Formats: sequence, structure tokens, C-alpha cells
Amino acid sequence: MSTAAAALLRDHLLHRQSKGETHVLLRPGAFGKAAISGRPEPKVEAPVAARESLERPPEPTKSRVSLLTPSGNSNAEKIASLVAMAETWEPARQLGSLRQTMVFSVGDPNAKLMLIGEAPGAEEERQREPFVGPAGQKLTGILKAMGLERSQVYISNICKFRPAMDNQGSANRAPTEQEMAACLPFVLTEIDILRPQVIVALGATASKGLGLEGSVGRLRGQFHEFQGTPIMVTYHPSYILREEKMNGGMQAKRQVWEDMLQVMERLGLPISEKQRGFFKAAAK
Ligand code: URA
Repeated sequence: MSTAAAALLRDHLLHRQSKGETHVLLRPGAFGKAAISGRPEPKVEAPVAARESLERPPEPTKSRVSLLTPSGNSNAEKIASLVAMAETWEPARQLGSLRQTMVFSVGDPNAKLMLIGEAPGAEEERQREPFVGPAGQKLTGILKAMGLERSQVYISNICKFRPAMDNQGSANRAPTEQEMAACLPFVLTEIDILRPQVIVALGATASKGLGLEGSVGRLRGQFHEFQGTPIMVTYHPSYILREEKMNGGMQAKRQVWEDMLQVMERLGLPISEKQRGFFKAAAK
């Protein structure tokens, strides 16, 4: 980048940062001496939330996450108590990089099957329900093919707030590790309340947020264990949507369906010949 361009960009970012308009943080020396020679970097304070997150990086996720203690006796009461806690959850709000509207989970708090996605998007935020946009419709279709209604399963996200972006419009982004870590106590407590027979992690973000290392391509196709519960990692429905646009998505759909057949078997759900054969003809 030329010196002039670097100086311009720096001035622009510093100005927006001082007004709290951007989450891009400039550390001292961010543009290097060469790029801004002759112009000392002014001292500009980052917004409070951003400053705190720089000074106090969160604990690494996974091992040291404590469960929350919701009130209530039944699973439904405990989940309702968790929802109330999530509304004002400081560790997430403090980050300053997540939007305000909290979108919790949906479905049966006694379900045997729990699915965990990434984070709410624009439509989910509008309706305050996970998986109701295009990816959600794809997920609903997959569940239907398994013989399940949305109301019979429990659908959660690893991050309970839509990740913020500059000039957001309807654009969405995946949550960062820090954002997932801030919400992880909720996900772990949900699992502890439900004690589902099977968990399905939808996509790499969810599986990474739960501490499973590796790509979906490597993890999928077999059960892993998550704190004593069998977990199947499979592709996120939005991956199927992208593949459908690019090449019909046959392979992605077949792979997800193979994973779901294993899930059905593990849950003891009936599987018809038609269900078993869904993608057999296509594979020939
Ligand atoms: N994608 C997700 O991972 N979760 C949602 O709730 C919606 C889209």
C-alpha cells in the first residue's frame, strides 16, 4: 500500500473508531513505520468494549466452561430460565461485536435429537427463531425427510446473537471463537438439561465451537463423543444451498443424508426402503 493510501486508511479508521463505529482495531504500529513515515500515530482510545476485549482476551473455550444454574424443575422451565439469562448476558454484550437481539433455541426441551448450528442470520433475528431463513428451510426439509417435525427436535446455535458487520444490511458472518466462547455456557447447559440421545453439529463453525478439531469432510460419516453424548458432524444446510447453485449439490445432499441415516439408526427411528434409497439411484 502506498504511503498516502495507508495514511488515508489509517485516518479514516481512527476517525470511525473514535466514534465507536467500527470494530476494526488499530494496534500501535498497525500500518508500519514505512507506510506512515513522518506522521506519528495519534493516540486514539478504542471504544471501551473493544479495549476490554483487547486487554482481557477470554479464557480459551472448551475445558474451563462452567455450566449455568437455571431455575425450574422441568426441562421447559429450565430452558425458559436460560432464555432470560441470555437476554442480558454480559460476556456476549461486552464484546461489542454481536448485535443486540438475542435468538435462543427452538423445539422440544425433551427432544432426543439436538441440532446445533452457527448463529442467527438476518431472518432469524427478525423472527427471533433459529433456522427460519433459506438454510433453515433446507434444514426443515432434511428433518421432514427423516420423518421429523421441527417441534419434535431441539434446534440450537453455538452463538445466540447475530454477529455484527459494518454496513450489514442482510449480510451475515460466522461467529468468531471469542463470540462462540461467550455463548458456550448456554449451549453446554442446554445439552446438560436435555441430555439428548444424539447431537448433530451443523457445519465447521459449530463443531469447532464444541472443540472438535478437523474439517467437516474429515469428521462427518461417523459418530464422535461429546461429553458422553454421540455427536454427528455434518455439512451446514447453507453449504448444500451453495453446492446446489454451483453443481446441483447431489454429492453434498447424499453425504448429509448418509449422516442422517446413521442418526436415525442411533435414535431407533424407523427407516423405510424409500428413505434408504433416496440417493442410491443418483449415485449410480
Ligand atoms: N444458520 C445457522 O447456523 N443458524 C441459524 O439459526 C440460521 C442459519
